[in-house]
Amino acid sequence: MNAIGQSERAERLLWLGIETSCDETGVAVVEERSGRTRVIGALLTSQVNRHRPFGGIVPELAVREHARNLPLLVAQLLGGTGLAPMDLSGIAVTEGPGLASSLLIGNAYARAMGASLGLPVFGVNHLEGHLFSPFLEGAEPIPFPFLGLVASGGHTLLATVEGWNRYRIVSSTSDDAAGEALDKIARLLGLPYPGGPEIERLASKGNPKAFRFPRGFPETGDLRFSFSGVKTAVRYFLEQHSERRSEPLFLSDVAASLQDSVVRTLCEKALWAAREGGFRTLAASGGVLANRHLREGLEEGCRDAGLSCRMAPSALCTDNAVMIASAAALKSAAGIPASLGEDIDPGLPLAV
Ligand code: KG4
Ligand code: ZN
Repeated sequence: MNAIGQSERAERLLWLGIETSCDETGVAVVEERSGRTRVIGALLTSQVNRHRPFGGIVPELAVREHARNLPLLVAQLLGGTGLAPMDLSGIAVTEGPGLASSLLIGNAYARAMGASLGLPVFGVNHLEGHLFSPFLEGAEPIPFPFLGLVASGGHTLLATVEGWNRYRIVSSTSDDAAGEALDKIARLLGLPYPGGPEIERLASKGNPKAFRFPRGFPETGDLRFSFSGVKTAVRYFLEQHSERRSEPLFLSDVAASLQDSVVRTLCEKALWAAREGGFRTLAASGGVLANRHLREGLEEGCRDAGLSCRMAPSALCTDNAVMIASAAALKSAAGIPASLGEDIDPGLPLAV
């Protein structure tokens, strides 16, 4: 596949983004002009209600939903934006990491559409989509280098970003991702999936200092993440205090306290790494960044440390196709040719 020609750069280019790595079917059209992006339209079909009775994502169900919804969403998006398929300049699709069968649906669709329309197909790493989502619709150039924090249901990592394709993982989780731990803890609290927003809701009435739950690798300068300890601690705590579950604010206090433990861990490690690494910008993204408590903590910490704090817009923290289309559009504008691996890669690393 060819990159879109340099000579066309001043024109508006339209990228269709497709995201099917997990349980959300996302499509978006993003316009790129002179290295700036603008969202023309985006649609997302959440499968949450289909998976909720099972307490987590059922891959077999996810794949059927993607297969059914993706063509409908693309038609609806193009119809709604008044665009014809021939108006598109390229197609961006998540090629990994994610659920193999879910990724395959998006990839097969993107390849077929690209081949039939003669359009370049740009494979985007899902984590790269998150990593750059704090700069969506930015008026300024991306401030390389920056330190990226991605906290989602599948990953929790810190990465240095020197430029496009120049990423180095500084730290990741040794067990659960932050969102994964929140989802599992929510189940212990009797809350539905996905647990992160449910815990935030319950925590809003609680006292974050009511109980002390452990934090993984709390020593200053230890950048490793671990969230299974807080999950286990909450499980034992709830078992030991089962008679208090009916007290009006007991579960709210538990939620607020455990949320505080997760948020503090994320904030302290990210801020320490950004300061010590001499970065001027901390860019945070991923589903967990939808959490208001975390956003406030990072904002305040960055302010105190004199860092520029960039966060993905709240509505675009969880999985979406805008971030996929934008990453492809900006990379293409930076002269990086579109390419799509031979196959999807459920374990595709951000950096090798
Ligand atoms: O980025 P994302 O949509 O999917 C992955 O790439 O994994 O992240 C989903 C995760 C889930 O674990 C969900 O519980 C968490 O993000 N999440 C939140 C909030 N909203 C979603 N966690 C804490 N607070 C929230 N408001
Ligand atoms: Zn994600």
